Amino acid sequence: MSTILAIESSCDETSAAVILNGQIRANIVAAQLIHQKYGGVVPELASRAHQQHIVPVVEEALKQANIRKKDINAIAFTRGPGLLGALLVGASFAKALALGLRIPLIEVHHMQAHVLAHFIEDPRPSFPFLCLTVSGGHTQIVLVRGHLDMEIIGETQDDAVGEAFDKTAKLLGLPYPGGPLIDKYAQQGNAEAYSFPLSEMPALNYSFSGIKTSILYFLREKTSQNPNFVAENLADICASVQHTLVKMLLQKLRKAARQTGIREIAIAGGVSANSGLRNALQKMGEEEGWQVYVPRFEYCTDNAAMIAMAAHYKYETGDFCPQNVSPLPRMEF
Ligand code: KG4
Ligand code: ZN
Repeated sequence: MSTILAIESSCDETSAAVILNGQIRANIVAAQLIHQKYGGVVPELASRAHQQHIVPVVEEALKQANIRKKDINAIAFTRGPGLLGALLVGASFAKALALGLRIPLIEVHHMQAHVLAHFIEDPRPSFPFLCLTVSGGHTQIVLVRGHLDMEIIGETQDDAVGEAFDKTAKLLGLPYPGGPLIDKYAQQGNAEAYSFPLSEMPALNYSFSGIKTSILYFLREKTSQNPNFVAENLADICASVQHTLVKMLLQKLRKAARQTGIREIAIAGGVSANSGLRNALQKMGEEEGWQVYVPRFEYCTDNAAMIAMAAHYKYETGDFCPQNVSPLPRMEF
């Protein structure tokens, strides 16, 4: 029997979840709207907002799960990767609570947790599977052999795909985070309207910095001819950019699946909420004979339920961490 309280504070969502014997009982997420004004996450403001949100978010999670603090067996927190100041808030809170309650602490790797979001509910993938983990900070193809046995077999050498979505949105004058807005406008646009070059990287790696530059030059040229170009063609631009990014993601995923012979294929992370990616993955899955796993929207973007899920597996193996553990903005698997 185990009851674990999990805390996520790596970027701009403050979240707390409760997991009882492997079942999520509460998952509260407080988004930070303050960053919209600045067109991106401002680290100092993120830390302050985490400080304001963390107590009410934890209280709400405990209330929703209908448990008292003395019922908790362990406290889990995101150790990294993420923004140092943001991670510090969650880590300090978790440590203080664990110390006060005299219960063990569990550190969780944020990207491993994104993969483990697939074990929150059915259908769960079987091992080994490949997980394309796509977020604002990462783009990775992960070979998952067990709940806590993962290997990165391909990743971006520069920007993350979420960054490519967000930076393109910024160029188009859309607010942060732009990924969901590009997705929304793309649904009414023609994906073949414009073409952007696909970057060629060796092996299973990605690069998304080149496409960002080509979009910038494309927009400069078009708006010099017609200042209203973006407003008049927003849906087509969004659809074409999204189509290119999705194509780049899936080409390497297909290569990885063919190389490894694995046909259990999952996607995770904020960008896995993208409808273009979801649809194209389903289609490729049918062509390639894959079993495809896509998490529910609320488990794609940052949330503490996935941290709690990772913590559940660590608790089962007695994998606790000392009180003096410090957050890691960059963290290896
Ligand atoms: O996993 P996540 O919530 O936070 C990080 O760990 O980075 O991912 C956030 C990223 C942002 O870049 C956001 O624009 C992107 O996920 N995103 C999307 C969509 N929803 C979120 N990108 C494209 N289409 C979406 N529907
Ligand atoms: Zn994330």
